[in-house]
Amino acid sequence: MCVLITGASGGLGLEFAKLFAKDKNNLMLVARSADKLEEVKEQLEKDYGVTVHTFAADLSKESSADEVYAYAAREGLNVTALVNNAGFGDFGEFASCDPDKQRDMVNLNVLALMRLTRLFVPDMKSRKSGAILNLASVAAFQPGPLMSVYYASKAFVLSFSEALHVELKPYGITVTALCPGPVKTGFEKAANLKNSGLFKNLKVASPQKVAQYGYKKLKKGKAVAIQGARNKFLIFISRFAPRSLVRRIVYKIQKVR
Ligand SMILES: NC(=O)c1ccc[n+]([C@@H]2O[C@H](COP(=O)([O-])OP(=O)(O)OC[C@H]3O[C@@H](n4cnc5c(N)ncnc54)[C@H](OP(=O)(O)O)[C@@H]3O)[C@@H](O)[C@H]2O)c1
Repeated sequence: MCVLITGASGGLGLEFAKLFAKDKNNLMLVARSADKLEEVKEQLEKDYGVTVHTFAADLSKESSADEVYAYAAREGLNVTALVNNAGFGDFGEFASCDPDKQRDMVNLNVLALMRLTRLFVPDMKSRKSGAILNLASVAAFQPGPLMSVYYASKAFVLSFSEALHVELKPYGITVTALCPGPVKTGFEKAANLKNSGLFKNLKVASPQKVAQYGYKKLKKGKAVAIQGARNKFLIFISRFAPRSLVRRIVYKIQKVR
């Protein structure tokens, strides 16, 4: 029995790893930084007495999800829960942002998440149990001018997760889309958000709080988990506002510093 967490070298992924380890789950952790993963492994094994496997991989590369699956199979790890957490954004006008970074973002946020799910679900189905937590975002609920690719990638994650939630229920597998607002992690820097109003205009949550919330909702098997009362409210009222207004508001929130 093992929980696979992507993007576990820091931020939300690291907090998820701590929560699962605290509950005595063995782990397989994936991220690019082998050294950081080793540090996390040592710490968690020492603190919680669990076994932690690490696998350094760049999940934006096409074959990497298959390599993760092959490693898990080779080591005989029964992946009972999959946390598709690795992801990043990029702030700026679509036509000015680095096209390679945009491609890597879709490869990571969308394709790797889909491929890992596709690879691990059959084993969960044959065991008639499993849990999948996919990191979406409040960004999934509306278009995001100045972060167009990121918002679109999270819209995919939300839609995909909700669909699988229904499909996989009869097999005893839960699928949860966790939708946080801004969280204090490495995300802001990685997404070049210092010139954006996003983290200045909205409330920023701690990664511990968001991970605890996601973990609780995963255990309950919820389909969609929007973290934070303010985020829930904003998403609720945005359903009644014209889409043309919503996209202009998002543009303003992100633009104003
Ligand atoms: N923070 C927020 O405001 C926020 C809000 C809503 C949703 N989210 C979502 O939450 C998830 C976690 O983000 P975070 O906030 O924890 O950000 P973070 O602190 O930047 O952590 C991202 C994690 O993903 C890993 N990663 C990045 N690129 C990777 C790649 N190509 N291959 C494998 N691993 C990769 C990073 O490790 P390495 O650098 O070692 O690879 C790191 O462990 C993301 O999906 C993000 O979109 C974040």
